[in-house]
Amino acid sequence: MDNRPIGVYDSGFGGLSVWRELCRLLPHESIIYLGDGKNCPYGGRSREEITNFAIEATERLVAEGVKMVVVGCNTATTAAISTLRSRWESMPIVGLEPAVKPACLTTESRRIAVLATAHSLRSDMFLSTTARYAEGIEVLKTVGEGFVDIVERGEESTEKAYEAVRSVVEPLLSEGIDKIVLGCTHYPFLRPHIERVVAGYGIDVIDSGEAVARRVEWLLKRYKIAARSDHKAEYRFISFADKSYRANLEARAKGIIEKLKTEI
Ligand code: DGL
Repeated sequence: MDNRPIGVYDSGFGGLSVWRELCRLLPHESIIYLGDGKNCPYGGRSREEITNFAIEATERLVAEGVKMVVVGCNTATTAAISTLRSRWESMPIVGLEPAVKPACLTTESRRIAVLATAHSLRSDMFLSTTARYAEGIEVLKTVGEGFVDIVERGEESTEKAYEAVRSVVEPLLSEGIDKIVLGCTHYPFLRPHIERVVAGYGIDVIDSGEAVARRVEWLLKRYKIAARSDHKAEYRFISFADKSYRANLEARAKGIIEKLKTEI
C-alpha cells in the first residue's frame, strides 16, 4: 500500500480529461496535476523541444514525491515516452495513445478518422500503431486546427468553438467513416460539439481517458502501490505558467468534480 500521489502531466488543461477518469475510477488516489501552460500548445513543436518539456515536467513531479507518472498528453507521449522510461526505469510511466486499436477492431465501414495534433499524427509511434492494427482500414488523419487554443482560453462553450469543430469535422461526414478517435486530451472538452456535428451519421466518438484509468488501476495492483482504501484523496495543481494559470486549473478541476458528483 502506498498513499503517495500519482503525477499527471499535460501541456495545459487537456490532461484534465484524463484526471477526471482517474478521479472517477480511483477515488482514494491523491493526484498532483502538472499543466505546463508556459509552452502550450505542443502540437506544432519539434520532438526535441517536447521531449525537453516532458523531462522537466517529470523531474518536477518526481521532486513532488509521486509514485507514478501519467503522461496525459498524446503529443508528449509520442515524442518522449521512451526517453522518460529509460530515465526513470524503476517508476511506472503511463503514456497516452490515440485509441486506434479499439476503433480498428470495431469499425464496420473499415474507414476511421483520427483527430490529433500535427506532431502526434506524423510520429513514429502513431505510424507503427496504425501499421499494426489498421491493415486494410483507411485511417483519415485530421488535425483539430485551433481546438487546443479554444480549450486553453476556456471558450469551449461558445458558438465560435462549435464553428471551429464544424469546419474540421463536417468534411469527414462524406468519407464513409464510422469512428472518430479523439487523439488529443484537449479534444474531449469539445466532445458535445463533435457529437452535434456527427449526429445522425452513425459515427462513434472514441477517446482514451477511461482505458488509461483502467491501465493505471492495473499497474497500481501489479506494483502493489495502490493507496489504502481508507485514504482520503488530495488533489493538487501546479504549472510552469503564472499563478492565474494554476488558479484556472484548480477552478476547472473543481467544476469537473462538481459534475462528477451529480453523475453518482
Ligand atoms: N493535450 C495534448 C495532446 O493530448 C497536446 C495539446 C497541445 O499542446 O498541442 O496531444
